[in-house]
Amino acid sequence: MGLFGPALVALLFFASLAIPCTEQEKSSLLQFVSELSQDGALGSSWDNATDCCKWEGISCSSENTVTDVFLACRNLEGHISPSLGNLTSLLRLNLSHNLLSGGLPLELVFSKSIIVLDISFNLLHGDLQGLPSSTLQPMQVLNISSNLFTGRFPSTSWEAMKGLVVLNASNNSFTGQIPTTFCVSMPSISVLELSYNQFSGGIPPGLGNCSMLTSLDAGSNNLSGNLPDELFNLTLLEHLSFPHNQLEGSLRGISKLTHLVTLDLGGNRISGNIPNSIGDLKRLEELHLDGNSMSWELPSTLGSCTNLRTINLRRNMFSGELTRVDFSTMPNLKTLDLVWNNLTGTIPESIYSCSNLTALRLSGNRFHGQLSERISNLKSLSFLSLVGNSLTNITSALQILRSCRNLATLLIGRNFMHEAMPEDDRIDGFKNLQVFSISRCSLYGKMPPWLLKLTNLEMLFLYSNQLTGPIPEWMSNLNFLFYIDITNNSFTGEIPAALMEMPMLKTDKVAPKAFEIPIYLTQSLQYSKPGSFPKVLNLGANNLTGVIPKEIGQLKELLSLNLSFNKLSGEIPQSICNLTNLEVLDLSSNKLTGVIPTTLNNLHFLSEFNISNNDLEGPIPTMGQLSTFPNSSFDGNPKLCGPMLAHYCGSSEKKFSTEVAKKMDERVIFVIAFGAFFCVGVLYDQIVLSRFFG
Ligand SMILES: *[C@@H]1O[C@H](CO)[C@@H](O)[C@H](O)[C@H]1NC(C)=O
Ligand SMILES: *[C@@H]1O[C@H](CO)[C@@H](O)[C@H](O)[C@H]1NC(C)=O
Ligand SMILES: *[C@@H]1O[C@H](CO)[C@@H](O)[C@H](O)[C@H]1NC(C)=O
Ligand SMILES: *[C@@H]1O[C@H](CO)[C@@H](O)[C@H](O)[C@H]1NC(C)=O
Ligand SMILES: *[C@@H]1O[C@H](CO)[C@@H](O)[C@H](O)[C@H]1NC(C)=O
Ligand SMILES: *[C@@H]1O[C@H](CO)[C@@H](O)[C@H](O)[C@H]1NC(C)=O
Ligand SMILES: *[C@@H]1O[C@H](CO)[C@@H](O)[C@H](O)[C@H]1NC(C)=O
Ligand SMILES: *[C@@H]1O[C@H](CO)[C@@H](O)[C@H](O)[C@H]1NC(C)=O
Ligand SMILES: *[C@@H]1O[C@H](CO)[C@@H](O)[C@H](O)[C@H]1NC(C)=O
Ligand SMILES: *[C@@H]1O[C@H](CO)[C@@H](O)[C@H](O)[C@H]1NC(C)=O
Ligand SMILES: *[C@@H]1O[C@H](CO)[C@@H](O)[C@H](O)[C@H]1NC(C)=O
Ligand SMILES: *[C@@H]1O[C@H](CO)[C@@H](O)[C@H](O)[C@H]1NC(C)=O
Repeated sequence: MGLFGPALVALLFFASLAIPCTEQEKSSLLQFVSELSQDGALGSSWDNATDCCKWEGISCSSENTVTDVFLACRNLEGHISPSLGNLTSLLRLNLSHNLLSGGLPLELVFSKSIIVLDISFNLLHGDLQGLPSSTLQPMQVLNISSNLFTGRFPSTSWEAMKGLVVLNASNNSFTGQIPTTFCVSMPSISVLELSYNQFSGGIPPGLGNCSMLTSLDAGSNNLSGNLPDELFNLTLLEHLSFPHNQLEGSLRGISKLTHLVTLDLGGNRISGNIPNSIGDLKRLEELHLDGNSMSWELPSTLGSCTNLRTINLRRNMFSGELTRVDFSTMPNLKTLDLVWNNLTGTIPESIYSCSNLTALRLSGNRFHGQLSERISNLKSLSFLSLVGNSLTNITSALQILRSCRNLATLLIGRNFMHEAMPEDDRIDGFKNLQVFSISRCSLYGKMPPWLLKLTNLEMLFLYSNQLTGPIPEWMSNLNFLFYIDITNNSFTGEIPAALMEMPMLKTDKVAPKAFEIPIYLTQSLQYSKPGSFPKVLNLGANNLTGVIPKEIGQLKELLSLNLSFNKLSGEIPQSICNLTNLEVLDLSSNKLTGVIPTTLNNLHFLSEFNISNNDLEGPIPTMGQLSTFPNSSFDGNPKLCGPMLAHYCGSSEKKFSTEVAKKMDERVIFVIAFGAFFCVGVLYDQIVLSRFFG
C-alpha cells in the first residue's frame, strides 16, 4: 500500500496532463453510434465517461482531436449519421465492409478536413448528384466502390475535389457517359476505377488530359466506339483496363504507353494486328486481348516484352506460325492462352524454356507435328490443353507428358486421328492428373490399362474413339472419378457391376481443387472448378449387352445417366427411382422390355428423359413428372399406350377427356417448375450435346 499510493498519485498526475477529446467530438461520435441499428458492440466500448481518443477504432492527433475513424468490417448496420461531419479534424474515415445503408451524407462529401474516405463494400444507395461545387475539399482518396449507387456520374461534384488522387467507383450502378471534363476538375487524378457499372457512350477523348493517370479501369460497362488516340497520350499509365465493353479500334499508338504493366482489352471488338511496336512495352506483365477480332501474325517483337507473366489472346483470328515469337526471352511467363485462333506450324520449342509456365493452352488452332520431349522441362506445368490441332504420335506424346509431374489437367482430344491407343504398361507418372480428355480422336484399341494408375483422376473424357473390348472392372478403383464419358466407342460386354461401386457417384463428396485457368465446354460455358461439373455416367453409343444392373440405384449422386444406343435388354430397374438428383436420363435405342416403372415420377429434377426405340409395353404414366415429356421421349415402343401416343390404352372417351383436362393442369404446373430448372436444363443440353472441349 505504501508503495502503491505514490504510484497512483503519479498516474493520476500524468493522466490529467492529457487533455481528453472535446464533448462536441464525443457527442458527434455517440450520435453516430446511436443512429446505427446494429452497432457491432461499439456502444459498450464507447463509454461517455472516458476519453474518446481511447475508444475502439478512434485515433487522435497530439492535440487530442479525432483524426481517424476506422470501423471497417464490424457488421455495422443502419445509416451513416451526418454528425461525423462535425469532427472538424477528421482526416480518414474508413467504414468499408459493413452493411450500412441509406445515402452518403453530404456533410462527409463536403467535409473540409477528410482526405481519405472509404465506404466501399456497403449497401449505400442514391445518387451523388447535386453537390454544389463552390466549396473546395481536401479529399484525396475516395472509395465508394461496391455499393448500390445509381444515377449519372455528377461532374459538378468532382469540380470541388481538385485534389482527388484516387477515385474508386467500381461495382455500383452508375449510368450515362463518363464525364469528359474529369481532369479539368481533378488535375491530380492518378487512379480512376469505374469498372462494373453501366456507363455507356464512348471513352471521352478528354481523358487524354489526365496526364497524371497511372491506372485507368472501366471494364464491364457498356462503352462503345473507338479507342480515342488521346488515350495513348497518357504516358504514365501502368494499368489500362477496359475489358468487357464494345470498344472498337486498333492498338496503333499503344507503344507510347511505355510504363504499361497491365493491358486488358479482352471481350471487346478491337481489330487489326498487334503492332510491332508492342516490343517497346518493356514493363508489360499482363497482356489480355482475348475475345476480340484481332488478326494477322503475332509480331516477333513480342519477345522483347521480357517481363510478361500472362499472355491471353484467346478467341481472335491470329494466324501464321507461332514460331515467329521467341518465348525463351520471357522467363516469368506463367500463363499462355492462345485457344481458338488460326495459328499454324509446330509448337515453338522456345516455349519450353519458360520453366515457370503453369498453364499452356494452344487448343483450337492448326498446329501439327509431334510433341517435343523438351516439354518435360516445364516442371510447374499443371494445365495443358492442345485439343483440336493436328498433332501426331499419341504414344510418344504420353511417354513424354508423364514426366510433367505437376500436370493436373490434360486435354489433348481431336488430335492423333486414327492412331492406336497406347496400351503400354510403362505409361505411368501422371500421379496428379485430375482431368484427362482424349476424346474425338478415333483411336482404336482397348480401354488403356495404365488409366488404373491415375489414382487422382476425377474426370475422364474418352468419347468418340473406336475403342473395343469390355469396360474394365478396375475403373471402380479410381476413387475420385466422378465424370465418365466413354460414349460413341465400340465397347462390348455387360455394364460391369463394379461400376455401381464408384465411390464418388455413391456419395456427395465433391472435388475441391480448382483449374489453373477456367476450362470451356463450349465457347461460352466455362468452369473453373471440377467440383462445379455434374456427376455423370455416359456409356451411350457403344455395343453393351445384358441388363441394366439394379445396383444402379446406388449411384445416388448422378445428375446424368446415358445408356442410349446400346443393346441392353431386360427391364428398367425400379431402383433408378433412387437416383433423385438425375436431370438427364437417356435409355433410348436399346432392347429394353417390360413396363415403365411409375416410381420414375420420383425424379423431380428430370429435365431430359428419353426411352424411345425400345420394346417397352403398357401405359405411359399420365401423371407426375413423366407425363410432362413430349411424345418423342416415348416413340418407337409399339407396345406402349397412352393419351400422348396414337395408341390409347382402351379407355372410355369420358375417362380420356378428364385425363386430358388433368394433363393440361399439369402442363401449367410444369411450365412453372420448368422455369425454375430451366437454367440447369440448358446447362446439361450443352454438356450433353455440345462436345467442343477447350
Ligand atoms: C455524456 O456526458 C456529458 C457530461 O458528462 C453529458 O452532458 C452528455 O449528455 C452525455 N452524453 C450522453 C450521450 O450520454
Ligand atoms: C454539429 O454541430 C453543431 C454545432 O456544434 C450542432 O448544432 C449540430 O447539431 C451538429 N450536427 C450534428 C449532425 O451532430
Ligand atoms: C479500410 O479498411 C479496409 C479493411 O481493413 C482496408 O482493406 C482498406 O485498405 C482500408 N482503406 C483505406 C483507404 O486504407
Ligand atoms: C478503397 O480504395 C483505396 C484506394 O485505392 C484503397 O487503398 C482501399 O484499400 C480500398 N478499400 C478497400 C476495402 O479495398
Ligand atoms: C476498387 O474497388 C474494388 C472493389 O470494390 C476493388 O476490387 C479494386 O481493387 C479497387 N481498385 C482500386 C484501384 O483500389
Ligand atoms: C461487387 O459488390 C458485391 C457486393 O458487395 C460483392 O459481393 C462483389 O464481390 C463485388 N464485385 C467485385 C467485382 O468487386
Ligand atoms: C494527344 O493526342 C492527340 C491525338 O493523338 C494529339 O494531337 C495531341 O498532340 C496529343 N497531346 C499531347 C499533349 O501529347
Ligand atoms: C519462377 O518462380 C519462382 C517462384 O514463383 C521465382 O522465384 C523464380 O524467380 C521464377 N523463375 C524465373 C526464371 O522467373
Ligand atoms: C486460317 O488461315 C488460313 C491461311 O493460313 C486461311 O485460309 C483461313 O481462311 C483462316 N481461317 C480463319 C477462320 O480465319
Ligand atoms: C512415335 O514416336 C516414337 C518415339 O519418338 C517413335 O519411335 C515412333 O516411330 C513414332 N511413331 C510414328 C508413327 O511416327
Ligand atoms: C456393334 O457390333 C456390331 C457387330 O457386332 C457392329 O456391326 C457394329 O458396328 C457395332 N456398333 C458399334 C457402335 O460399335
Ligand atoms: C432405394 O434406396 C433405399 C435406401 O437406400 C432402399 O431401401 C430401397 O430398396 C431402394 N429402392 C429400390 C427400388 O431399389
